Amino acid sequence: MAMETTVSLSVNSDRLQSRLYKLAEMGALEGGGVSRLALTDSDKMGRDLVVSWMTELGLDIAIDRIGNVVGTLKGQTDQPAVMMGSHIDTVSTAGIFDGNLGVLAGLEVIETIVDAGITPVRPLSVAFFTNEEGSRFAPDMMGSAVFTESLALETALETIGIDGKSVADELARIGYLGEDTFPSVSDTVSAYIELHVEQGPVLDELALDIGVVEGVQGISWSEYTFHGTSNHAGTTPMSYRQDAGVVAAAVMSYVHQLAESMPNNQLATVGSIEFRPNLVNVIPNYSRITVDLRNSNESELKRAESELEAFIASLVKKHGVRVEKKVLARFEPVIFDSNMVGKIESLAKESGMSTKRMFSGAGHDAQMFAPHCPTAMIFVPSQDGISHNIHEHTTPRQVTNGANLLLQTILKLCM
Ligand code: GLV
Ligand code: MN
Ligand code: MN
Repeated sequence: MAMETTVSLSVNSDRLQSRLYKLAEMGALEGGGVSRLALTDSDKMGRDLVVSWMTELGLDIAIDRIGNVVGTLKGQTDQPAVMMGSHIDTVSTAGIFDGNLGVLAGLEVIETIVDAGITPVRPLSVAFFTNEEGSRFAPDMMGSAVFTESLALETALETIGIDGKSVADELARIGYLGEDTFPSVSDTVSAYIELHVEQGPVLDELALDIGVVEGVQGISWSEYTFHGTSNHAGTTPMSYRQDAGVVAAAVMSYVHQLAESMPNNQLATVGSIEFRPNLVNVIPNYSRITVDLRNSNESELKRAESELEAFIASLVKKHGVRVEKKVLARFEPVIFDSNMVGKIESLAKESGMSTKRMFSGAGHDAQMFAPHCPTAMIFVPSQDGISHNIHEHTTPRQVTNGANLLLQTILKLCM
């Protein structure tokens, strides 16, 4: 079918909305959000539901050894596929759009194309990747990192989560330890595109329709464990203490100040902290904290990492505690394909949508594809910039805009 005809296609907004809300029933939280930590029972329910939709649509379904699921519509040729995708695992306090939108909009784009009786020249795939969030098992983007061969399968499978269970065991338990293997990405995927909610305030504040994503900032996750000595809170003079808790607290406040003191958008978060024995009148002999540092400039990010290291070195000396460090994740900033970025921008403008070029603050599966094939992302607004929160919201009109722009971009890429 000629492009002039296909260009007028639009997605079925009601079908997309109904799938978003149906998927949100899997792991639903009181108040409207979802908790579908990777490889939990609720993740399995979400996976089964999306797989059932892929099956109804007649897609070929492949499940690889890290549990990534790829549904493919055959093309007129067997050239490398155009792939859409994202994730359906969530943080435990999630809204219903993060990740899910990219997967379900991809499905909707394929269904729209099928309904129109079009067979694309290239195969068209929609994928959901295992453990994008990294909240239960680090690193984040685990499935897409294995898919793109930047993380070894065995390393990923051996990863132990925050509850002591391994990725391999949990994949097997929920029935997603697949057997399919994919040849290298550059041989199987001709382009990758991901629709996602912005998860930040920019588009909402400026009342814009679309974020044209130029790249993703770098991410550095580390975990520090401090070992001190437990002692009596009332009898131990301050100068006698090896207080692991006070060290963790000092790091927490230091990284916040460090980020504020650095220009150019350095970000720093301590999102998890643990004390032992965690009692009112016992000096902690153990503390564990995670540090999330992000910057779109790699040398600035390295500077933040080394300043933190120096601070911790002096701190442990001063307090007489011992430190262990584990790198949980490290991704350099990524720049997306300028042709695809330009194409998305011009297609949005042709459709009368207002746009802004922007960098992504959050990590995404797309960043794993960028070194291997032309890759880009489309953002739609997040109300009040809220995400990783049950109140995350994007209106049906904004969702439809994003899905239609994804459709228009896909029609250019796969015909
Ligand atoms: C993952 O989505 C992250 O950016 O933390
Ligand atoms: Mn996401
Ligand atoms: Mn997320």
